[in-house]
Amino acid sequence: SNDPLVIFTPSGKRGHFAAGTPILTAARQLGVDLDSVCGGRGICSKCQITPSYGEFSKHGVTVAEDALSEWNSVEQRYKDKRGLIDGRRLGCQATIQGDIVVDVPPESQVHRQVVRKAASNRTIVMDPATHLYFVEVDEPDMHEPTGDLERLARALKDQWDIEHITADLSIMTRLQPVLRKGKWQVTVALHKSHTATAHKVLEIWPGLTEDRIYGLAIDLGSTTIAAHLCDLRNGEVKASSGVMNPQIRFGEDLMSRVSYSMMNPGGDKEMTNAVRTAINGLTEAIATEADIRPFQILETVFVCNPVMHHLLLGIDPVELGQAPFALATSDSMSLNARDLDLSVMNENAQVYILPCIAGHVGADAAAVALSEAPNTSEDLVLVVDVGTNAELLLGNKDRVLACSSPTGPAFEGAQISSGQRAAPGAIERIEINPDTKEPRFRVIGSDIWSDEDGFDVAIATTGITGICGSGIIEAVAEMRMAGLVDSKGLIGSSAQTGTERSVAEGRTHSYLIHDASDQGGPRISVTQGDIRAIQLAKSALYAGARLLMDEMGVDKVDRVVLAGAFGAYISTKHAMVLGMIPDAPLDKVSSAGNAAGTGARIALSNLAARREIEKVVREIVKVETAIEPKFQEHFVNANAIPHATDPFLELAK
Ligand code: FES
Repeated sequence: SNDPLVIFTPSGKRGHFAAGTPILTAARQLGVDLDSVCGGRGICSKCQITPSYGEFSKHGVTVAEDALSEWNSVEQRYKDKRGLIDGRRLGCQATIQGDIVVDVPPESQVHRQVVRKAASNRTIVMDPATHLYFVEVDEPDMHEPTGDLERLARALKDQWDIEHITADLSIMTRLQPVLRKGKWQVTVALHKSHTATAHKVLEIWPGLTEDRIYGLAIDLGSTTIAAHLCDLRNGEVKASSGVMNPQIRFGEDLMSRVSYSMMNPGGDKEMTNAVRTAINGLTEAIATEADIRPFQILETVFVCNPVMHHLLLGIDPVELGQAPFALATSDSMSLNARDLDLSVMNENAQVYILPCIAGHVGADAAAVALSEAPNTSEDLVLVVDVGTNAELLLGNKDRVLACSSPTGPAFEGAQISSGQRAAPGAIERIEINPDTKEPRFRVIGSDIWSDEDGFDVAIATTGITGICGSGIIEAVAEMRMAGLVDSKGLIGSSAQTGTERSVAEGRTHSYLIHDASDQGGPRISVTQGDIRAIQLAKSALYAGARLLMDEMGVDKVDRVVLAGAFGAYISTKHAMVLGMIPDAPLDKVSSAGNAAGTGARIALSNLAARREIEKVVREIVKVETAIEPKFQEHFVNANAIPHATDPFLELAK
């Protein structure tokens, strides 16, 4: 071709374009990530690029000084008003005149790849449901009587090729003043559903807004509600926060909440109100933490188990308490946040809830499937999402099975004497010296171990408040390895264990980790009751895994992925020692952090991922644990530490 060659870095994408083509147009045609909010009008400056001149032996081109059009008045106006880094040009203004090499700086790249899908090792490209668009709207004309909304719609069609605009009354009441204030230039946030063709106006600003827009990815657990606030332009997590689920006062686990609803007329409504109020509080807190205004939150994605799903939606979960465990709907849902009384975020914010798999296997399991992608795995992978109700997935690219298992809240630090949610001040890591039986530990918010210099200084900001789920898992496993606990889970006396840290409490013993009670501080120990709670939880987890393996007809798995509650990375070694999961080589066990939360972020970041998970969920086969007699058998066999059925004991030495 005789047309000039354009090479973009860092992507390396290249093509020939007619002289006079704007760089932004070339970038669009080549699929280069170059941002633009104003559609090339020289207003937003999001399209900045850095041209390079000289010889490029690597690319085989020589770039002449006049390879780009001259600096124009639009660029000059922008530079005078807002400033522009030397050497930068506006990609929408600079046109191609000769062979050119153009660098796209990181701030100008919009589709940053942000979330990684584990098994498939695929990165998710940012393409959320909601985008900002800057438009210039025609002024009204007496001779051509159309409404302001119709002219806005026409501008979006002409300037962005977007059709079918809808707007709720709250937008209509502000449209006219905003259009006039912006002198017929406005920025609109448009939401596209993955199932419908219409675009909905969620927010409108006069002129070109500097505001960013955000989405919340919420993992609504029985014990903990965790949220990530994500920038909808680049997927960046601006803040993460969590609160205890206030429904705990109606029952620690799901079934007791279902019975609360059965026993108390209006009980479901109380629980619905409690959880919605908590989400509003969390929204407020996370917006404050990220220093944004809550109205900038335009989207929310929820993942949750079926009971939480119904209670969030205001549906009585009574049917989920009895066979055949019928859901009101297992489909994904797209709603207005205001329908769920989520009044802190933008009044037009949109909610997407991932589909449920079945009556006991919810949208949280679907989110884990979206994040860990067992359906694309070559080898047989067991994915365990540890929570009050554990979600388990077993499968590969041929077939995926799923179940949930009622582990209880111990793995989230609830029902544990010194337990707490994973938050600053919680002990998250612990080691016990097998000779001296002395512990050393680390708390969330400080990366210094308790026996290191500077620990006191480091914890001065966080304090020590308790022990979280990952901490209690490590504590019990370390106690087993140090010989403080036997395989039945019994804590030895100080005479048996040789340490004063073993303290008699009635007829049982507990192991003292940290005692600051003489200074009014906490006294943190692991009690016999704590060990029992962990034994029950890990037995349920293990039994669920074994049930899936029975169903698959296998007695071992190739790989195990351990996902956990918000903020906590579960130590694979300690999980193995405890016998939480079936036997697998330690190097085949990995920790995935909050996989359900990651799945929610993927669904928030990428519209196509919503369709994808809806398809995957339809193909997942659900295995029911509640009515399966083998579950009980596996459960009982798994009570010992590690457990009676697997050759784990070498690890415990
Ligand atoms: Fe907005 Fe270039 S695209 S200034």
